[in-house]
Formats: sequence, structure tokens, C-alpha cells
Amino acid sequence: MVQYRPAARVAALPPNFFGAMDREIAKLAAEPGPRVINVSKGNPDLPTPEAIVTAMQAAVASPSNHRYPAYLPRPKLAEAIALRYRDDHGVDIDPATEVAIFHGSHEGIMAGIVALAGPGAAVVLPDPGYPAYASAVQLAEARAVTLPLVPPTYQPDLTALDGLEGAAVLVLNYPNNPTGALARPETFVGAGEAARRLGAVLLHDFAYASLGFDGRRPLSALAIDRGHEVTVELSTLSKTYSMAGWRFGYAAGNASAIAAMRAYQVHAFSTIFGATQDAATAALTGSQDAAAELVAIYERRRDLVVEGLRRIGWEPESPEGSFFVWVPVPGGGDDVAFTQRLQREARVAVAPGSGFGAGGAGHIRLGLVHDEATLAELIDRLAAFGAAPTTTAVP
Ligand SMILES: Cc1ncc(COP(=O)(O)O)c(C=O)c1O
Repeated sequence: MVQYRPAARVAALPPNFFGAMDREIAKLAAEPGPRVINVSKGNPDLPTPEAIVTAMQAAVASPSNHRYPAYLPRPKLAEAIALRYRDDHGVDIDPATEVAIFHGSHEGIMAGIVALAGPGAAVVLPDPGYPAYASAVQLAEARAVTLPLVPPTYQPDLTALDGLEGAAVLVLNYPNNPTGALARPETFVGAGEAARRLGAVLLHDFAYASLGFDGRRPLSALAIDRGHEVTVELSTLSKTYSMAGWRFGYAAGNASAIAAMRAYQVHAFSTIFGATQDAATAALTGSQDAAAELVAIYERRRDLVVEGLRRIGWEPESPEGSFFVWVPVPGGGDDVAFTQRLQREARVAVAPGSGFGAGGAGHIRLGLVHDEATLAELIDRLAAFGAAPTTTAVP
């Protein structure tokens, strides 16, 4: 059999960090012992609200959705996206020219970077940051430039870009994965100015758009860049409506950048199932009570985990949004080694911070994607783990 080698742009992709971790966790779960508590990922555990499921069932049954859909977003869907922006953020979006749709915002990240950054172009990425950004830079054969996020608020240190003369894209992400930080208005003001100076699109990944705690609604970058001079924002139904498996996301903002992203999307991935578009329209235009209830559930889980960790002497940041808790490794030390020990000795899987870049080293990330009883058991296991002597050397 002929052995083929991947093209250079694929060969150079970073190893799929979470894929490798998933395999390890699955192996551990197959071994005898108590159940593995897996808080390593951001895969929502709660079901999609019933009204959206019902809308999808009707849409799937409609023969009009069995044919190829049009390339452009359905007008009702584009209008629904504009409606959410108006109601939630006081932002006006032109549904005809300022909206693009994707199979999830992961695909939107690829479109935002690959459609706008040519080979060798600089793409500014937050550190720590969601690993897909670096993969997209690699596929674009572009060049990543690190933008450090500074604790404890994890806003970007934009002075790090002072020596940079140009860039194609500047990526930010708030509510932030992995740290749980919310954006401050001045962050988007400064990033917009930097983007304008660099000739870059400010690509704001707003995947956790609905998930602000303590009554705070996360800030849209388009509420700061009201003329959509430089900004495109990515959103997803995955977290807001617990629809991660459905694969639907969208971008809104600067019309010329949206046109490039649409072109990339239709050439690379073609069209999006009409029934998914109809169900997304139902989600965005229907009652938002279920989405608000999800925020309340994650907030209760956050309180349980943060208070529990503090009780056992760990020192987590209390997240302002998202559904992650970002925790310095207790007593300091290497996050990967600590994660491996936790897996082996407590059968608890967390994400090591250095998987999100050098800026994440020394931290671990816990996802609030289990019910309260499981999260209470998680705290008990961590308490017992903390009390146990370290017996095994990490390989
Ligand atoms: C920061 C961030 N952006 C984008 C995504 C991708 O989400 P989706 O492709 O489900 O829309 C995720 C998923 O976890 C994320 O955490």
C-alpha cells in the first residue's frame, strides 16, 4: 500500500491537544475503578431547549429542506441574527451584507483567519487562547504573533504589538476561554485602534456571548466599534442554547471581511442544512428564557466549585463568565504533570493550562459541564487527593 504524506500545511498542524487527551481519558475510563469525572472539556451536558428541538423536527420533516439550500444565509435567519444583536447589544447589523453562517464557530474561526490572512501574514493570537486559532494560522500558512493576556483580569497587553508593522487579523475572545474573564470596554477600544494601525480585522470570538455571571451581560465588540470599521464577531448556538452537537455558528460585522469569509465558507464547505438554519432561526427569535436559565445553572455550578475549591485551600479565580474555572496549580508546579497525577490518582480529568499556550502554564481549567452532585463529588475527590501524599513519580 502506498504511504502518502500530508501536504506541508497539514503536516505542520499542532498535535490535536484535546484529541490526545480524550484518548487517554477513554483508556482510563475503561480500566476498573470509580467513574472518571471528566471536566477537561467545554462540552455542555444540558439538553437543547425543547422548543428548538420541536422546531428542528418540523424542519427536518419538510421536503423543502431535503434539497440543496442557497449559498447565502436564509433571509429570516439573517434577520434573526440582526434581531438578537439589536435586542441583546443595541447593535445594528445589516442582514443582507453583514452576516455569514457556519457549521459552528470553529468553522467561523477557520474562515476568519484563512480567508483574511495570506501566507506569511501576521495573525495576532491571545495567549492563553483557544487552540483552534493556532491551527487556523497554520492552515493559512500565516504567522502567529503572541498577544499576552495579563492576570488577574486577563485583558491583553497591547503594548506587545508596538513593534509590529502590519497584521491581517487580531483575535480576541471574551468571555474568555480558558480564564473566564469578561472584556472591559477599553480592551475593545485599544484593540480596535491597534487593528486600524496594523491594517488588521479585529476578529472577536464571542462563543460564550450569553454566559456572564452576577448579572453582567458580556460586551459585544460591535457595541464599541459601532461603525463596524474593523470588527467581525463570531457567535455560536453551541453554548447559549446547549446546541454543541448541531453545529451552527455565525459572524457579524464589517461587510468586506464578511464577504471574504462567506466566499471561503461556500468554496470550502458548501451550504448549511436548511433545517439547521430554520431551527437556528427559531432559537434566535423565540423566548430567551431557556438561555437565561442556562446562565443561572452555570452560575450555581460556578459558586459550588469556586467555594468548594477555596474550602480545600485551592485558589481559583472566580470566573466572570464562560463556564470554565481557571485555577493555579495548588502549591505551584507543572500543570501537565499535575493533570496526569490527578487523572491517575483521583480519576479526575482536567485540562492543563499549557495546552492553551505558554501563558496558561501553571494553571488548570475545569469545565462546569456536570450536574451539582457530580461537581460536589469532584470537590470531595480533590480534597482527598490534596490530603494524600504524592506517591508516584510522574514519567
Ligand atoms: C472560545 C471558543 N471558540 C469557539 C469554539 C467553537 O465552538 P463551536 O464550533 O461549537 O461553535 C469554542 C468551543 O469550545 C470555544 O471555546
